[in-house]
Amino acid sequence: MASIYLYPVWVRLWHLINALLFLILIITGLSLQYSNEHFNLIRFDVAVSMHNIAGILLSVNYLVVFFGNMFTKNGMYYRMRRRWLVKEIPVQAKYYLFGIFRGEKAPFPINSRRKFNPLQKVSYFAVLYFLMPLIFITGWALIFPNVLFIDKIFGTSSLHFTDLVHIIVGFILSIFMFVHIYLCTIGKPRSAHFRAMLSGWHHSEH
Ligand code: HEM
Repeated sequence: MASIYLYPVWVRLWHLINALLFLILIITGLSLQYSNEHFNLIRFDVAVSMHNIAGILLSVNYLVVFFGNMFTKNGMYYRMRRRWLVKEIPVQAKYYLFGIFRGEKAPFPINSRRKFNPLQKVSYFAVLYFLMPLIFITGWALIFPNVLFIDKIFGTSSLHFTDLVHIIVGFILSIFMFVHIYLCTIGKPRSAHFRAMLSGWHHSEH
């Protein structure tokens, strides 16, 4: 059995803090979204404060992964080529949809140069470099609405538009998180990826 050190301490710490804050944001976010005069999962003003503090901490924590990926070799695992996307993504998708249930071998097994399969790479990249910045920018703009320098956008108030984008991205990221956790259970044994994220070491059978 070969062992590869894939998750340095800073990645594990960033990820743990990120996951915990995400859970707080999802629960408080849902509470804010569905609260009315008859029902509050968490008291409205408490949910607002918790959501704001967790959001601010999440964006500060984001700097760790942003600069970590920029200045350490961890960034190499996120690099993609267009040719690669077109060819390899369908292969991985076919494996997730059919191959896995027929007991086939993973088409892109983990090694020291490849930590992520093509679908992981694309989704992690989109989450880290597109969806997370979008949720931070809209979140900060909602905390400080005076900085919204445009009054109206697409015929509606820019505050309303910012809120809409924030909520849509929040739902997409929540769905990502649950799909992400499910896909992390696809390992041998099922706990393999979770243990790797705790210890840093990935153990493979070849
Ligand atoms: C309770 C919640 C979560 C659990 C249990 C979890 C679990 C895991 C596990 C086991 C891995 C290692 C396997 C792999 O590399 O795919 C991983 C990696 C990763 N997760 Fe999560 N995750 C959670 C939440 C999140 C959230 C909310 C995000 C982002 C919004 C996220 C983003 C990532 C990224 C980017 C990696 C790869 C990090 C790297 O090695 O560079 N995770 N996660």
